[in-house]
Amino acid sequence: MSLPKTDKIWMDGTLVDWDAAQVHVLTHALHYGSGVFEGIRCYETATGSAVFRLTDHMKRFERSARMLFMDLDYSVEDMVDAVKETIRVNRLKHCYIRPLAFRGYGVMGLDPIPAPVNVIIAVWPWTTFLGEEAQKHGMSVGVSSWRQRTVNGHPPAIKATANYLNSSFARVEANRHGYAEAILLNEAGMVCEGTGENIFIVKDGILATPPISDGVLEGLTRDSIMKIARDKGIEVQARSMVRTELYTADEVFMTGSAAEVVPVGSVDGRAIGDPGPITQDLQRSFFAAVRGEDSNYEAWLDRI
Ligand SMILES: Cc1ncc(COP(=O)(O)O)c(C=O)c1O
Repeated sequence: MSLPKTDKIWMDGTLVDWDAAQVHVLTHALHYGSGVFEGIRCYETATGSAVFRLTDHMKRFERSARMLFMDLDYSVEDMVDAVKETIRVNRLKHCYIRPLAFRGYGVMGLDPIPAPVNVIIAVWPWTTFLGEEAQKHGMSVGVSSWRQRTVNGHPPAIKATANYLNSSFARVEANRHGYAEAILLNEAGMVCEGTGENIFIVKDGILATPPISDGVLEGLTRDSIMKIARDKGIEVQARSMVRTELYTADEVFMTGSAAEVVPVGSVDGRAIGDPGPITQDLQRSFFAAVRGEDSNYEAWLDRI
């Protein structure tokens, strides 16, 4: 994706020009992957723009940082305000939001604790991440030959920049094999997630998704879909699943802030088919929630 330029980036408490948001080549995070980040979306609603689950995202950001002993100089509330300010100043009605905290310049070596911590927030327009076609008809995905990062190696619960080397391996391989996205299994062979999305299957009317304990990110879209489904009276299970359950599922879809809710049309060349009724229903309700069209989920929206 080529990056559309906007006017300002929030950098350590100050709004700076896009082109001036630079770091030194000896920035710790460039060498050792010592950063944490978030991916969030702001949507246009009938009554103005709103960010979906902004406070929850900034709480996860703070938790990721804390697990890496990174002290942020800003509270969750400060960062929520900073995101809103950055959207306003860039005059965007809808956008993708990328907060990043990283170990900065001044220290080298594998103990990052003495290095300073920098925080930035960038925003830019980003429409559908996996394409309109995938949204409507389902994408083809393939189980990766790469394994999911491990809970005691690169903990998937931490949204750390270093973790995404693993996602990148899997994404590149999937694309080279003609798939839109990869599914990663953990070392025990259990289904985990995509490179930047959680995964769900529907079988005999029951919705299931892998549990956090199998090594997946606790996705906020995952959480939203589970809540919306339960509100509809659909049984929802967070349970381990094996690869063949993907092949025999009635419906499969993936969720993420960037990807939103994307149906899966085939897994490893085995057809699942066009989006099924539960996927379509949940997809519709998700978009109604993010666009402020369902008052039941108004609390998830942070108005700009
Ligand atoms: C590896 C991974 N899994 C799942 C997700 C989905 O999480 P969320 O719905 O909070 O964006 C993401 C995106 O952040 C991710 O990078």
